[in-house]
Amino acid sequence: MKELRGKDILSSFDFDRETLEHLFEEAETLRKKLSTTHLKIADSKTMATVFLEPSTRTKMSFQMAMLKLGGSVIDFQPESSSLQKGESDLDTMKIIDGYSPDIIVLRQSKPFFPHSIKEEIAAPIINGGDGTNEHPTQALLDVYTIWRELKRVDGLRLGIMGDLKYGRTAPSLSYMLTFFKDVKIYYIAPKELRLREEVKEKIRNKISFVEVERLEDIEEELDALYVTRLQKERFKDPSEYERLKSSYVVNLEALNKLKRIPIIMHPLPRVWELPQEVDSLPQAKYFEQAKNGMYVRAALIKEILGI
Ligand code: NCD
Repeated sequence: MKELRGKDILSSFDFDRETLEHLFEEAETLRKKLSTTHLKIADSKTMATVFLEPSTRTKMSFQMAMLKLGGSVIDFQPESSSLQKGESDLDTMKIIDGYSPDIIVLRQSKPFFPHSIKEEIAAPIINGGDGTNEHPTQALLDVYTIWRELKRVDGLRLGIMGDLKYGRTAPSLSYMLTFFKDVKIYYIAPKELRLREEVKEKIRNKISFVEVERLEDIEEELDALYVTRLQKERFKDPSEYERLKSSYVVNLEALNKLKRIPIIMHPLPRVWELPQEVDSLPQAKYFEQAKNGMYVRAALIKEILGI
């Protein structure tokens, strides 16, 4: 198992199978304890959340997890900060780090930004999303959800659908699944939104995968279908977004064409790709998935703080 105490978590590759299974078990224990009481184990520890791109789930679940463990949270507000006066993101991080938080959760739009500053920052950094590159704690809650729902990860047949080019959740989820046995991923996307070559490079020979353009192209029964949003804010050409928008919608009609409806996951936010009509299916797990994020992040905080 990897020692996470005091460590940065920048990539899904910062974990291994044993560490993940330990975190999932810990998340189960914390779920039971936190349903009835708040803990005091993070008493005197502080987390700084620095989100330089919008966030609901990642930020709130980290904050709630820290508070429920008995720790304190300070949230950096970019709109009213000196970033508006032209201060750089690096200077901002150095200043926050100077106040000695025990963990910094950072979201920034440039790929590999946390990797580029980590030597200058004393506090452990958790990467809450670095542009199109990675979102390792999203993968953590995704794999935790699969582990909880299916009672296994080995042998998984998973479809990952949507914006695989600009989305950061598909790469991180794929990297994390390389730690498990006999997993097969079907990537479902129009040609323009296929997984980037650099991502395929990192999973080649570690996991079996197939790229298709439509859900109907998959013959095997899936265990889980992971739907993602088109990352509108990252499209260089807005007309391309409009053109590709209609390329896939996972509605009841599309799902009913499958031999068996798999569990349906989504990192959220959803926009139009997963209509509300799907929510009533017992297989719809995305709200549960978001809730799971708080417990598994609490487990991660506990390990990083060594408490
Ligand atoms: C994702 C993200 O920020 O990458 N959101 C999240 O953290 N749950 C997915 C998205 O924005 O599409």
